[in-house]
Amino acid sequence: MTFKLRRITQNDLPRLRQFWKENWGDEFVVAHGVVYRPDHLDGFIAFEGKEWIGGITYHFSGIDCEIISLDSLREKQGLGTLLIEKAIEAARAQGCQRVFLVTTNDNLNALGFYQKRGFELVAVHRSAVNESRKIKPSIPLVGMNGIPLRDEIELEINLT
Ligand SMILES: CC(C)(COP(=O)(O)OP(=O)(O)OC[C@H]1O[C@@H](n2cnc3c(N)ncnc32)[C@H](O)[C@@H]1OP(=O)(O)O)[C@@H](O)C(=O)NCCC(=O)NCCS
Repeated sequence: MTFKLRRITQNDLPRLRQFWKENWGDEFVVAHGVVYRPDHLDGFIAFEGKEWIGGITYHFSGIDCEIISLDSLREKQGLGTLLIEKAIEAARAQGCQRVFLVTTNDNLNALGFYQKRGFELVAVHRSAVNESRKIKPSIPLVGMNGIPLRDEIELEINLT
C-alpha cells in the first residue's frame, strides 16, 4: 500500500501532543529517565486525508539517532517498516553511526518487529519503567500481552 508521509513541522506539534496522549497516555514520553516532548523532536507523520494514521519521532545526539516513538494505526500493511526506513535514511543523511531505541519488556510485537528489521538487542535496563512511572504515573503496571511492565530493552542498528 502507498502511504502519504510528511516531515513534522511546528504546526503539527499540538496534534502530535494529542496523538501521543491517545496512544501513549500523555503528551510526553519517558525513556531511560529522560522526558521527551514533541517540541524537540524531528520525524514524520503518516496520514490518510486529514486523519493521522501513524508517525515516527527521533532526535540526533552526536553520532547517535534515538527513535523516541513509532506508531502505526494501519498495522501489517507496511507502514511501520516505511517509517523506520525514513528515520534511518534521515539518520544517515545526518551522519549518524547508530540508530537506537528503547522498547519495553511487554512489547513482544515491537521486539520482533525491530529485530526483523536489523536491530540488535544491546541491553536490558531492569526496572527502568518502574522509574519512568514515577515521572509518568499513567504508565500501566501491566502492559501488552498481560505482562508486568517494568524493564526497558535497548536495541540498535549500526550504520557504519
Ligand atoms: C510495531 C508497529 C509500529 C509495526 O507497524 P506495522 O505498520 O504493523 O508494520 P509493518 O506493516 O511494516 O510490518 C508488520 C508485519 O506486517 C507484515 N506486512 C506488511 N505488509 C503486509 C501486507 N500487505 N499483508 C500482510 N502482511 C504484511 C510485515 O511483513 C510485518 O511482518 P514481519 O515483522 O513478520 O515481517 C505497530 O505494530 C505499532 O504501532 N504498535 C504499537 C506501538 C508500538 O509498540 N510502537 C513501538 C514502540 S517502541
